[in-house]
Amino acid sequence: MKKTVIAFFALLAMIQARADEGMWLPALISQRITDMQAKGFRLGAEDIYSVNQASLKDAVVLFGGGCTGELVSDEGLLFTNHHCGYGYIQKHSSVEHDYLKDGFWAMNRSEELPNPGLSVRFLERMEDVTAQVLKGYEPGMDEEERAALVMENSKALREAAVKDGGGLKASVEALFYGNQYFLFVFREYTDVRLVGAPPSSIGKFGGETDNWMWPRHTGDFSIFRVYAGKDNMPAEYSEENVPYKPKKSLKISLAGVKEGDFTFVYGCPGSTREYVHSAEVDYVANVSDPEKIALRTTRLDIMKKYMSQSQAVRIQYSSKFAGVANAWKKWQGEAKGIRKMNTVAEKQKFEKEFEAWAKGTGYEGITDTLAELYKARNPLYRALEYYNETVRSIEKLQMSSGRPVSLKDYYQPIDEETFTAMMTAFDKGLDDCYKPDYFLKSRERFGSMEQWKDAVFADTLEAKKLSRSLNEFYTENLVPKVSSYNRRINLANRTYMKAQMAFRQDKTFYPDANLTLRVAYGHVSGYSPADGVSYNPVSTLTGIIEKDNPDIFDYNIPQTLRDIYARGGYEDQPVCFLATNHTSGGNSGSPVLNADGNLIGINFDRVWEGTMSDYVFDPDFCRNISIDVRYILFIIKEIGHADYLLDEMAFVR
Ligand code: ARG
Ligand code: ASP
Repeated sequence: MKKTVIAFFALLAMIQARADEGMWLPALISQRITDMQAKGFRLGAEDIYSVNQASLKDAVVLFGGGCTGELVSDEGLLFTNHHCGYGYIQKHSSVEHDYLKDGFWAMNRSEELPNPGLSVRFLERMEDVTAQVLKGYEPGMDEEERAALVMENSKALREAAVKDGGGLKASVEALFYGNQYFLFVFREYTDVRLVGAPPSSIGKFGGETDNWMWPRHTGDFSIFRVYAGKDNMPAEYSEENVPYKPKKSLKISLAGVKEGDFTFVYGCPGSTREYVHSAEVDYVANVSDPEKIALRTTRLDIMKKYMSQSQAVRIQYSSKFAGVANAWKKWQGEAKGIRKMNTVAEKQKFEKEFEAWAKGTGYEGITDTLAELYKARNPLYRALEYYNETVRSIEKLQMSSGRPVSLKDYYQPIDEETFTAMMTAFDKGLDDCYKPDYFLKSRERFGSMEQWKDAVFADTLEAKKLSRSLNEFYTENLVPKVSSYNRRINLANRTYMKAQMAFRQDKTFYPDANLTLRVAYGHVSGYSPADGVSYNPVSTLTGIIEKDNPDIFDYNIPQTLRDIYARGGYEDQPVCFLATNHTSGGNSGSPVLNADGNLIGINFDRVWEGTMSDYVFDPDFCRNISIDVRYILFIIKEIGHADYLLDEMAFVR
């Protein structure tokens, strides 16, 4: 008897230790705190989120509207990823000062570089405002009326929340497809200066080859400083501004990480779809992802060809290439992961069980409603996605429709070849009913895509007419249709979500990501990507030296790094590590913290075999990738010679 009890608890512990799925709302973290503590967390819920005292949330920011950052000193010093700071580093770069290539290190405060347009947002508070948002709602209201009501009530809540000024910003966000609403109040600082960035050969080490992969050795970090007015409140850039004094800054752990250590990630994941109907996942894994992958393969091949022929073109297109390649590679892992997990069939099974339970309740038939909506929407949505991936990838047509394209980074032969390939794909991939009249007539008039292309690139008017007809057709015709379906799907999802929560009352649900602040927790852990292969959770400088190759752009490290390694004693210098935290796009730059809430790393990626985690989480394969904070310190010191920055940080063993 005793033995079985122990075995039972051991099994339970194992199951729980594996269940690292979830991105939780900080304000509701008390729901998870016992589980976190059972797994090793040594602090309490109030340490993570509190409106009464300084807490970890005060050290975390939404950085530039799509990434996360964290405060690491009482003088406004901020860490985020190199790929999050990339655009700003690029803007300060010129032929004379190529900070992307050589890195940038301010040697004192006066050398820090301002970044117009960049802001960071600190969360002041978040609260459940469901009742206020739905005030005046009456059963039977249609979705349009409800949306109008939600908008009006939200506006009033937002206005009340920011009435004191002082850089306050507010948003009301729907959670669980509108079953719940939360008000988020932020304080936004707009004077954010660049302090340091490693050369790309460190910050982007491994390039697209290593992207989404383990073993990883990317030094993906950059350093900024938040400035405030003399009163510590947000202020427009001014030389008079002073470093912002945060309510809380993170202490940096020098203790290191090892397999099994408790970790958590505090940041802003952008978008996940964990509770959707099998039809949506089926479409993503079996239609959308494969088609978009094929189209992007063609585009990437074209870019690659010209980039390998000329250094100048490589520089012009490296950022665009990275953007196209990033999603391209993620979708491959995602589609594969969804198929491997058998998610479509698993969801169909769940839907059957659900409907059996729902019989006679108000929820009966909701999964069929969803299936029908997807069936009707998908052909239209597919056309829209196809259009976006083909027509909208042609820079000439973008320019003709007035969208800005940097001519400094434009190389016409790439664009011409892209035109021919993408217009052909668009024509072949979609029925004629998805093409405007002007397109069909031109196709006949020119006879071949080559001639059509020559005409478009020779004649601005021809390019304008073509892009206008396509634009109008899609934005005025298809987008509204798809949006209308998406609204109905969202409404049905609201019901389905509520029903799933009623059906599975034993489960604590977390809301899908929507760029609101979340906490994910797990532990340091390697994984086995394939039979016979097993990965360690940490990588070291030795691995960088092993990959080092002056002939391959992505693996050509600075000579200084080779020299340092050659001095000896740096073989085990940690670089990156893996953990089981559930993260998503937007979590880049997020602090990765240990059991005591001290900084051990910065999140920047996930492993390829786990990229289906936006739809389904597999504890065996889903890993987030972080840069070890000790590698950041090493680079600041040894490469940047900016040791003075370390003086303002607080370290713990
Ligand atoms: N895969 C990471 C993310 O999704 C990093 C992307 C930037 N790096 C790159 N090599 N493209 O954002
Ligand atoms: N690299 C992603 C980001 O930039 C993070 C991820 O998708 O895991 O947010």
